[in-house]
Amino acid sequence: MPIRAWRFKSSSAHMFFEFIFLVILIVTFLLLCLWVLSGYFSKSLFTEIPYSSLEPLREELQLKNGDIFCHLGCGDGRVLFYLSDQNLDVQYVGIEDNLFSYWVASIHNKWNKVIGKKTIKIIYKNLMEKDLSFATHIFSYLPPQIIDDILPRLDEELRPKTKLFSLSFKFTLKKPTKEISFNNKNYKRLRKIFVYEF
Ligand SMILES: C[S@@+](CC[C@H](N)C(=O)[O-])C[C@H]1O[C@@H](n2cnc3c(N)ncnc32)[C@H](O)[C@@H]1O
Repeated sequence: MPIRAWRFKSSSAHMFFEFIFLVILIVTFLLLCLWVLSGYFSKSLFTEIPYSSLEPLREELQLKNGDIFCHLGCGDGRVLFYLSDQNLDVQYVGIEDNLFSYWVASIHNKWNKVIGKKTIKIIYKNLMEKDLSFATHIFSYLPPQIIDDILPRLDEELRPKTKLFSLSFKFTLKKPTKEISFNNKNYKRLRKIFVYEF
């Protein structure tokens, strides 16, 4: 190959890789901005639930066919995806108002559909504005200022015998019917689930 043509080829390959690098940098920057901004507009920042807390939850839930499980503030949907792996005819619904987390959960959900796994329903909404009377089981990992705010509505709206499972946090004005303690080596704060019956 003549030297001039080779030089042209190698410099255009160089420009192509520079372009790809720039695109990756811009996308990463935009995702970071979206994460920070959506956390700013949501009431609480995303704090992930470690997988080690999920098995005790699954055991305690004892879901059966026909149940409707709802996760308030479902983040990246990990609780819903974990539970939906059971071969049960249960509907799994998540409510999330952080756009970034909602997108992560939605993309995961679409992927599950592509590979033929069970899908869940993710609702992008402020949980304070969503009617929750459809649920038979509710799970939350939300700080007291949020669950206390929603308690009057839950009392009014939930069907009798609906159970709510709260990881780590208790309602100020409602007594749990049960407290489950489990061993969570690396997460001392996440060793309790409070169960409430409405
Ligand atoms: C402590 S994080 C738990 C994250 C999630 N459970 C997980 O690990 O997959 C609380 C979640 O609740 C969401 N959240 C807080 N207030 C909310 C509201 N009013 N409506 C909907 N989601 C809310 C936050 O955006 C956050 O993702």
